[in-house]
Amino acid sequence: MNTKQNPDSHAERRDNRKVTLRTLRRMRGRGEKAVFITAYDYPMARFADAAGVDMVLVGDSVANTTLGYRSTTCVDMEDMVRHSGAVTRAVERAFVIGDMPFMSYQQSDEAAVANAGRFVVAGCDAVKCEGGRRVAPRVRAMVDAGMVVMGHIGLTPQSLAQLGGYRVQGRTDDQVGSLREDIVALEEAGAQMVLLEAMPPEAGRLLRDSVDVPVYGIGAGPHVDGQLLILHDVIGMQDPAILRRPSFVKRYADVGAVVVEALRQYGADVRSGAFPAEERWYKGRE
Ligand code: KIV
Repeated sequence: MNTKQNPDSHAERRDNRKVTLRTLRRMRGRGEKAVFITAYDYPMARFADAAGVDMVLVGDSVANTTLGYRSTTCVDMEDMVRHSGAVTRAVERAFVIGDMPFMSYQQSDEAAVANAGRFVVAGCDAVKCEGGRRVAPRVRAMVDAGMVVMGHIGLTPQSLAQLGGYRVQGRTDDQVGSLREDIVALEEAGAQMVLLEAMPPEAGRLLRDSVDVPVYGIGAGPHVDGQLLILHDVIGMQDPAILRRPSFVKRYADVGAVVVEALRQYGADVRSGAFPAEERWYKGRE
């Protein structure tokens, strides 16, 4: 394909051009699905970028995947800014979104703008916050300050207590109606993209078709503009004692098992004396 004629084509994007909001809008317009994954540190973010994913979320799921907390509400701005910086230093092409942690945007417009600004300074292309109508004023404030904001509705882990646990959302007409009001309110407030979490495909389709901005899904079926998964679920690194792998996840690798096996072999070599063999010794003076 002639990439000059079609600057946002797959071929062009494989050429490492930075993914921007414009790229993502055009992809939605063409019905081209965006590949979206979480990452929390430099090496994994580099691997994600090398694999050609379009979008990386530095999720507050870092709490569960990386820091060993049971709840995403346990991480704060210091955690998120540090992990965001590690990811943005690694990523050259993908669109990077920093996830605003619990209580970093709920209190006031001023707090939301100041905290969102820290993600931008850390190199993120956008920020994400959870909630629909109730966070619309915050979204408006952050967008008015010049930032790109992703809304997040459906199952919102920061309000797990209110939702009564990890429950699929949008199963009744009333729930879908309420989610529809949320997504429209987010778009009206200026959100440039929205993430839907844990809902049946019909709800995902209706919500996606209710707005003009790109709408992505994690466990929201196929009728959205792209798919997000949690990296540690995809590559077999999530400890099930902390978080069970949801049924919508497909695991593509068992990295945890590879690491355990490599360290077993290393342990066996150290214990037997096979490591370090002579070729790995520094030479002394001749
Ligand atoms: O933190 C995260 O990874 C998220 C996803 C669960 C949507 O917010």
